[in-house]
Amino acid sequence: MTKGDNPQAKPVPTDNVGVNDQAIDLVLRPNTWDDYIGQDKVKKNLKVILGAALKRGEACDHLLFFGQAGLGKTTLANLVARELNGNLKITSGPALEKMGDLAAVLTNLSKGDVLFIDEVHRLNRQIEEVLYPAMETRKLHLIVGKGPGARTLTLDLPPFTLIAATTRPNLLSAPLRSRFGASFKLDYYEQPDIEAILKRSAKMLNLKINDEALKIVAQASRFTPRVANRLLRRVRDYVQMNDKEIIDADAAKKTLEMLEIDELGLDPHDRRILSVIIEKFNGGPVGVGSFAAAINEDKGIIEDVYEPYLMSIGLLTRTPGGRRVTEAAYKHLGHGGSDQGKLL
Ligand code: ADE
Repeated sequence: MTKGDNPQAKPVPTDNVGVNDQAIDLVLRPNTWDDYIGQDKVKKNLKVILGAALKRGEACDHLLFFGQAGLGKTTLANLVARELNGNLKITSGPALEKMGDLAAVLTNLSKGDVLFIDEVHRLNRQIEEVLYPAMETRKLHLIVGKGPGARTLTLDLPPFTLIAATTRPNLLSAPLRSRFGASFKLDYYEQPDIEAILKRSAKMLNLKINDEALKIVAQASRFTPRVANRLLRRVRDYVQMNDKEIIDADAAKKTLEMLEIDELGLDPHDRRILSVIIEKFNGGPVGVGSFAAAINEDKGIIEDVYEPYLMSIGLLTRTPGGRRVTEAAYKHLGHGGSDQGKLL
């Protein structure tokens, strides 16, 4: 097993946000369904499930949210908890290392609470097995003691809803996956949705931003709200330091230039991935492991963070022989095309 295949591997760095940035993210987080922009199908289906559970006076089925980092899985869980009049208790697969960690979280739940387990694909199998009866019959079986004197203590848990989130649904075991009443895929947002999110964020931060700048920032946001809001904070810094009253196209462009982010939202790392495949592997096909090694990057990070976006905007494709760079990528990088690219 390579490092990149290991679900227990170190966390994937998805965002280099500071403490202050995190605080702003919290302020910007929508607290009502109306404020949550985009993902209309998910919202519609969720509202039916939640509404029906509330009408029956029962806990809602356990839910699985999957999709790339920054697309709003935690935010949605927060809205679900509010709708169910419960508290949102947040933990993650890697944080639940020992039985006691899970027991502490579960026994702290009250009726109607929502337990959110992020990065659930990194939960270890032993803990997962304790979770099954907790999800199904709301019982926690604890083994107390060791050896011949060991016995099982069973605790009743209050009705709660588990929301598990993952960027890698294919790494979940079949028994775990089968215990969710519904699963929802969060897709990349549409450009108008990102513009609307930015407009709302700018208003909340008391920033003036014109339509042209909104478009530029949205286009560079990888169709991801968290990235869009981070870029907005950086443009805010730029106008602050340059004594500008309003965020205009010039401020947006200068900020992106400073961050070395191009108009498609690619950073130097994305461009390097594409360049290495073009220059060292003749555009592909090449296995992820090979080009990950060539750029000295973790395979899992490439698969989790970089590839999905490059594929979604059509710069990289997956073929049976490996990854291939597309003609659009050659054009974007100014490589002037390739025979391989033309075949695509
Ligand atoms: N911030 C993060 N995700 C959001 C969304 N979907 N709508 C509005 N603001 C957001």
